[in-house]
Amino acid sequence: MKLSVPAGSIFASPDFTIGVATSSFQIEGAADAREASIWDTFCRQPGAIADNSNGLVACDHVNRWQEDMALVASLNVDAYRFSVSWPRIMRNDGSVNQDGLAFYTQLLDFLNAHNIKAYVTLYHWDLPQYLEDRGGWLNRDTAREFARYAEVVAKAFGNRVYSYATLNEPFCSAYLGYETGVHAPGKASRAYSKKAVHHLLLAHGLAMPILRKCAPDAESGIVLNFTPYYPASESPSDKTAVKLAHAHHNDWYVRPLLTGEYPALLDDLPEEEKPEIVSGDMQIISAENDYLGVNYYTRAKVRHGDDRGFEILEPASEVQTTAMGWEVYPQGLTDLLLQLHRDFTLPPVLITENGMACDDTLIDGKVEDVKRIEYLQSHMGAVDQAAREGVHITGYFVWSLLDNFEWALGYTKRFGIVYVDYPTQQRTLKQSAKALRSMLATRSAQAELQD
Ligand code: FCB
Repeated sequence: MKLSVPAGSIFASPDFTIGVATSSFQIEGAADAREASIWDTFCRQPGAIADNSNGLVACDHVNRWQEDMALVASLNVDAYRFSVSWPRIMRNDGSVNQDGLAFYTQLLDFLNAHNIKAYVTLYHWDLPQYLEDRGGWLNRDTAREFARYAEVVAKAFGNRVYSYATLNEPFCSAYLGYETGVHAPGKASRAYSKKAVHHLLLAHGLAMPILRKCAPDAESGIVLNFTPYYPASESPSDKTAVKLAHAHHNDWYVRPLLTGEYPALLDDLPEEEKPEIVSGDMQIISAENDYLGVNYYTRAKVRHGDDRGFEILEPASEVQTTAMGWEVYPQGLTDLLLQLHRDFTLPPVLITENGMACDDTLIDGKVEDVKRIEYLQSHMGAVDQAAREGVHITGYFVWSLLDNFEWALGYTKRFGIVYVDYPTQQRTLKQSAKALRSMLATRSAQAELQD
């Protein structure tokens, strides 16, 4: 089973960036060389993580970075997206952990030496615990702390970085972390999440001018996740439910960034759920972005219900799902991109995450993850379709380079194109990694022929 760049597709263009992605807490380990993060604390809560695991070792990437970077280079990718661990950089006493910075600068130097573009995310959910102790994202000061951290990083990394993302998926930080409580810090109240979102978006907006000043050659933006919603039936109430789910879970994040306004739903929220918006905030939040990162995994059907007017349904038993139980639905990615394109004047769009969890097994040194290859192929097609219909899309990243710590599901779900045997930390390229590697080799050979 192969992966192929469809002829004439945007994926064939040498200007279209193709890469793989990871995040700090999910792979790094070396927890003793940094401050604690909210995920360290959360992992200690009984029952919080499916397999009672934690990120203390994870993929031991801090110690094995050379092997991992060699893997990245071997895949022929144009780019590598990773995140910086805030608690590895900023100490509780306000000082900067120079060893932490040095860890990342050696990654960046490797990438630059190998002509691989570095896509750096500043916040992929691992808030320093000392900031959570002061209220975390419910405290407006956390946004200012983030801007300070962004400045330290951008000054130290200089021109080594091709692209910065301030935040990864503020929906997950705010909704899963502060409303449902299934993610760190495990707070669960409707009164919290939209306040947390506001401070996260403010953190993004405060960091943007700093990134522009300290890293004028880099592009800067933000990464959001989206789930396109579809009505469970043609009934008007189910269609209204779709609009509500979209307003709460998608539009709530993207609209303020691109227009400076929350969705109209803001007026209907009970007082205790409303964010505390200070004059000038929306202007800060809607700072211009060089790109919008879009993470896509699945869609969901929605019906009227619950006191908020919508209920998100599990996939029907007959549809194809991933090991996460998520429906495989490439058309959802095309629909989503076209909807964003209709609703907003978009900056260039990057698909910053796409991939699937499979029940991979290592047999005789091989992992035959055919389903993942099919998933990637069909989703690349979906991206290309949206491009053909007018959306300006500049890149595509596979989630993930390595099997890793999948948050509340611990090590039970494998998203990697490289298999990690955790007891030995041995890495094995799955069939999907080999397929990507040869697809990219063919693509650059064709590009050279055309030169
Ligand atoms: C996204 C996260 C990423 C990973 C994938 C499966 O929501 O950004 O860290 O967990 O889902």
